[in-house]
Amino acid sequence: MIDAAPDRRRLVLGIETSCDETAAAVVDGVWRVRGAAVAVQHDLHETYGGVVPEIASRAHLERMLPVIRQALDAAGATLADLDAIAVGHRPGLIGALLVGTSAAKGLAIGLGVPLIGVDHVHAHLLSGLLVDHDAAPRTSRPLPAIGLVVSGGHTNLYEIEDPTEPRRLGRTIDDAIGEAFDKVGAMLGLPHPGGPGVERLAADGDPEALSLPVANLGRDRLDFSFSGLKTAVRYAALGAPGRDAPPLTDARRADVAASFQRAAIAALRRNLRRTIDRLPEARGLLVGGGVVANAAVRRMLAEEAERGGLDLVVPDLRWCQDNGALIAALGAPGLDADKTDALTLVPSATTRT
Ligand code: KG4
Ligand code: ZN
Repeated sequence: MIDAAPDRRRLVLGIETSCDETAAAVVDGVWRVRGAAVAVQHDLHETYGGVVPEIASRAHLERMLPVIRQALDAAGATLADLDAIAVGHRPGLIGALLVGTSAAKGLAIGLGVPLIGVDHVHAHLLSGLLVDHDAAPRTSRPLPAIGLVVSGGHTNLYEIEDPTEPRRLGRTIDDAIGEAFDKVGAMLGLPHPGGPGVERLAADGDPEALSLPVANLGRDRLDFSFSGLKTAVRYAALGAPGRDAPPLTDARRADVAASFQRAAIAALRRNLRRTIDRLPEARGLLVGGGVVANAAVRRMLAEEAERGGLDLVVPDLRWCQDNGALIAALGAPGLDADKTDALTLVPSATTRT
């Protein structure tokens, strides 16, 4: 369906409220971002060391309409120009999803345009196909492809023939990779979310300083596990039961960050390689999620794509983390294919695939 001739002029508003970003964007039928806005809430959750669902929902409620207004202004569009409203309605924090889904339904009713619910994690896979409003649209889409989403909530591998219906091959059985970055960041005294801080600290450290475990769940499995790695980092940084750790000097913190990052990326690389070996017909590698902002992760992806002869489709840094544009991108083909949702669309905390 994604190759059905898209209507370039169609404008889809994408709404994203799955976690702690309130975001909206206007995207056209060929995935050009006409305008986008996002309000982050990191400061509200800072003192708690993680996202507090109720605080997130209330902040979404306050910010949703101003953010939609900003996205429309940035696009030079009005509500009357919109052809559809796409909303990330799963997975995520249920109270947070309710805010975005309700806003989307209200707009769809008020404007008399279709509502399209999209899976937020699947939407991350399309983030590398987004282009600026004045850029030439990407003409080729390397399908079939392998997909990898590495975010605060997910570490998923996919087989993709139709990007609107990716087939999941592997996932984490405990923590997501971004969550592991965040928890290690907290152990090292970094602000939430810890990923960017851990990356900065790792630049000054020795990645071989600590020998940390890279979980292997079996040769035939493409699933991930990061909880053992997280515990090993805790013991190294803060000490194990009955055993003190060396003093957590700045040099030691950098070594812990670098060693953790190396082990986490090694886990991604191994399962990605297994997937590439398993799907020889794949032509592309579509990646997305906040952790793709990490330069060492991007280097590993480039190396593995080259090794496997795959066309790597990696998002611009602006579109790695949660945003409205990727939601609109996944909604746009639904509009072209008349795959829209009823106003009874129900948000869900979990994903289906
Ligand atoms: O995709 P995203 O915005 O939200 C979810 O859908 O979960 O991803 C957020 C995650 C956080 O865990 C954050 O620490 C991580 O992405 N992240 C990074 C970096 N930038 C963001 N992790 C490692 N290195 C980075 N530079
Ligand atoms: Zn996300």
